[in-house]
Amino acid sequence: MNRRDQFLGEMGLGPVWRLRARAAQQTTQQTTQQTTQQTTQQTTQEAPRVGNAGLSGEATSAAAALHRVAVPAAVGIARRPAEPLRTVATSVQPALAGDERSARIMGMDWAALREAVARCQACALHASRTHTVFGVGEVGVGEVRAEWMIVGEAPGAEEDARGEPFVGQAGKLLDSMLAAIGLNRKQNVYITNVLKCRPPGNRNPAPGEVAQCGPHLARQVALIRPRLILAMGRFAAQALLDTDASITSLRGRVHRYQGVPTIVTYHPAYLLRTLPDKAKAWQDLCLARRTLPAAF
Ligand code: URA
Repeated sequence: MNRRDQFLGEMGLGPVWRLRARAAQQTTQQTTQQTTQQTTQQTTQEAPRVGNAGLSGEATSAAAALHRVAVPAAVGIARRPAEPLRTVATSVQPALAGDERSARIMGMDWAALREAVARCQACALHASRTHTVFGVGEVGVGEVRAEWMIVGEAPGAEEDARGEPFVGQAGKLLDSMLAAIGLNRKQNVYITNVLKCRPPGNRNPAPGEVAQCGPHLARQVALIRPRLILAMGRFAAQALLDTDASITSLRGRVHRYQGVPTIVTYHPAYLLRTLPDKAKAWQDLCLARRTLPAAF
């Protein structure tokens, strides 16, 4: 059994799924254009379900938090010119106006941002945390190089203890998922969460916590300029895409956050509890793999 088979095995995906995935990949070149067109049509039709329309109250303010963050054209590392949208733009793009704190964060370089997160006391989570969990991945001197950005929900107990994201059971599965598509957390991947501090008892992040932490994630994306974002789980997907749509309806197509192609998949912790959905997660990873070269 080779390494890839081993990881697919760990994901609960037997040879049948692997072969189907391979077959799908073999036809990728012929179907990429068609898929993109289909995706475009599909998302265009489904677009009204995404965005602020119809949302209200706290859910709206939490999901909108990431999108109120100012992303001035002059900030961020211009690794590449803005590309024409070959995939689909959802209605979600960061607003051009934000509050003073967001604007300050959006002006930070990587070191200043890391320091700001380490010292952050903007919400009550600072009182119960052991460590902030900024993120992990390939970071170069003066620029952040990862092409893939993985966004989870929030640190759990082990992540809080170690200050690194996805180091518990869910993290092991994430590593297997990455390995299955030829990636690892030390190379060309940056892994972070919507929240940088652990919610006590692993409860869901509160809207106010997302509102305070949102600018940190927005700035990480602006600095890294990944070529692809993988939003893991309902919470990350909804926060990034500014929607309350279900993960089922968000999977299987390409969204955009800050112009970056964004694909939604299940959270590894959910997959550990719901084995049959691992096959769907594999489909999402294959979509991500196909999307990355097609995006440029
Ligand atoms: N779950 C997450 O969403 N993030 C982590 O870092 C760990 C578990």
